[in-house]
Amino acid sequence: MKDRGQKQVRTEPSAYKLLHTIFAYISRIAKERDLDRLLILFADMGRDLITADRCTVWLLDNKTDMLWSKVAHGLDRIKMPKSFGIAGHVATNGKPLITNDPYNDSRFDKEFDRKTGYTTKNIIALPIQDSEGSILGVFQAINKMTKRGIFTEKDLEHLLLAATYTGKQLEAAMLQEEIETTQKEIIFTLAETGEMRSKETGNHVKRVAEYSKILALKYGLDESESELLKLASPLHDIGKIAIPDSILLKPGKLDEEEFKIMQTHARLGYDMLQHSDRRILRSASIVAHEHHEKWNGTGYPRRLKGKETHIFGRITAAADVFDALGSDRCYKKAWDMDRIIKLFKEERGDHFDPDLADAFLDNLGEFVEIKETYKDEPQPDSK
Ligand code: C2E
Ligand code: SIN
Ligand code: SIN
Ligand code: FE
Ligand code: FE
Repeated sequence: MKDRGQKQVRTEPSAYKLLHTIFAYISRIAKERDLDRLLILFADMGRDLITADRCTVWLLDNKTDMLWSKVAHGLDRIKMPKSFGIAGHVATNGKPLITNDPYNDSRFDKEFDRKTGYTTKNIIALPIQDSEGSILGVFQAINKMTKRGIFTEKDLEHLLLAATYTGKQLEAAMLQEEIETTQKEIIFTLAETGEMRSKETGNHVKRVAEYSKILALKYGLDESESELLKLASPLHDIGKIAIPDSILLKPGKLDEEEFKIMQTHARLGYDMLQHSDRRILRSASIVAHEHHEKWNGTGYPRRLKGKETHIFGRITAAADVFDALGSDRCYKKAWDMDRIIKLFKEERGDHFDPDLADAFLDNLGEFVEIKETYKDEPQPDSK
């Protein structure tokens, strides 16, 4: 699967080699969740299957009538109008197409070569369809690299194999992306609604989300886990939904009995969320359950100690307290930053994981910046 240089003449792969290529890609594709990276894998698979110089998998965006794709090493998605060139033609009429003489084919757009200095000698393109036959995009390959140097019906057959497989995988991946986007929106709205009752603004959940992600990255979690925590942490107090107003909104200090009831919000949140097998909600259930545990084992509800508390719980605990201290609550005024810093120093290794307390104290600027960006509007009815 190595790129052996663009201009080198190659031989047609044997049937064995083809199968080998397909299986190698299938196992990589099965592990890939990111749509952009999937597009590149599909394109590489197509290129290797038919010994092409380049291959691009275009996806159709029906809302904007654009085709978009992703190329290896490119940071951004590339886009072009659906009416553009050979790929556009295939996206529009849904039929496969081979041209071994593009410069005499009116559908070919010579602009592309003129801009890039590349010489297109032949193009093969075919539609990618979903299970209902709707066009999802276009599989396009350029320049056959064998000595004979033309695309044939055989190539079309092989690329069709790739396109059919790609269609199925894409359908699943796009559905997954849709589901996750919807989930994120629902979760965030739910978290905002929960916080609204306790008169905390939607900005509280935004800030806790942002603080949590930064802490996660500083702690050494990878980008995808850190992002997962960012999506899940806004739900940490979702269990407060079940706490009566008389306690939740009490302007003064809670008595012992009231505080006991208040503390149940951690387990209540966990109970609400624990049955989901969605990644985000499962993480949220951990966060809801464990965000009031303390490093020294005196927290609630389970008095977990040290790393018995999941890293998501430890991080959200620190983020939540940092934000609660810096904000007005129905029962207290916001603290100034010096007092917050002092508490984090005192509670390092007691309330908070020492590594996380350090991450805070060493990177205060970043946290303050988020605090400023998502400032609470002054609320006339709050005290
Ligand atoms: P919250 O307001 O979101 O506060 C989250 C956590 O931040 C608290 O968890 C506590 O660890 C920390 N925190 C907040 N304010 C202060 C403070 O003034 N001093 C110190 N040292 N820490 C503070 P905690 O204590 O388990 O409380 C959980 C939730 O119970 C709070 O969430 C809040 O909704 C409620 N709550 C706690 N104390 C009172 C109170 O005196 N009156 C009322 N009405 N509610 C309270
Ligand atoms: C598109 O339709 O352009 C791709 C979807 C996305 O941008 O996330
Ligand atoms: C490439 O992958 O060769 C092109 C990178 C880009 O400009 O997007
Ligand atoms: Fe809480
Ligand atoms: Fe909170």
